[in-house]
Amino acid sequence: MNPCVAHRGWSGDAPENTLAAIALAAADPDISMIEIDVQLSRDGVPVVIHDNCLDRTTNGSGRVKDFTADELRRLDAGSWFSPAFAGQIIPLLSEVLELTQGKKLLDIEIKTLPGLYPGLEEKAVELIRKFDMQDQVVLTSFDHYAVAKAKALAPEIKAGPLVSGRPLKLVEMVEELGGSVLAIDYEYLTAETARTMHERGIQVVAWTVNSLADIRAVAELHPAIQICTNYPQHWKQVCRGW
Ligand code: G3P
Ligand code: CA
Repeated sequence: MNPCVAHRGWSGDAPENTLAAIALAAADPDISMIEIDVQLSRDGVPVVIHDNCLDRTTNGSGRVKDFTADELRRLDAGSWFSPAFAGQIIPLLSEVLELTQGKKLLDIEIKTLPGLYPGLEEKAVELIRKFDMQDQVVLTSFDHYAVAKAKALAPEIKAGPLVSGRPLKLVEMVEELGGSVLAIDYEYLTAETARTMHERGIQVVAWTVNSLADIRAVAELHPAIQICTNYPQHWKQVCRGW
């Protein structure tokens, strides 16, 4: 059965990347891993939020990097989703580690553009080690330099590239990075790629697979593909027949 990864927490049912969404996913034994996005506040604290800007998912405005962690934490990150989640805040990475420690695997996406968050990889690794979660975490990024840096800083932590499109030398690229995971846009994933990666011991995470039809199609490519979705209930319907 294909494992299920909850994308930005259980983000179909609770505001993405909040403790509410992460706790919902952490409480479900069917979910293997939780994906989150990490950025850096102005005072250098890793915080969990997807966009570089605050406007879509909080009542704030402007760039994450221009606010201190204390200022970010005063924002409401739940009301945009539903009034029922008013008061949810942007969590610190440390809070998410504390919540999931010993309970669930985490896919921590390093949200970085060249030069945007200097020191983010170091700070993420420091926290993962502080919580002794090296075996519980995989570090991913669209910025493959960030993956290489994370791997150099912490060879003991699994890492791998995020990929969209069809890189010519995909296998070589993942192996050169020392990657043990490939997180790939499901629309570009083929059965051949999934088989080749798994033969080499590289886990494949397909993102972000939300509809029943797409989950079914990805599951049919290879039984070990991890299905990253906003709707774990859809994964249950397809993969568990519920
Ligand atoms: O895990 C991969 C996926 O999260 C990448 O896309 O934009 O949702 O962070 P995005
Ligand atoms: Ca992500």
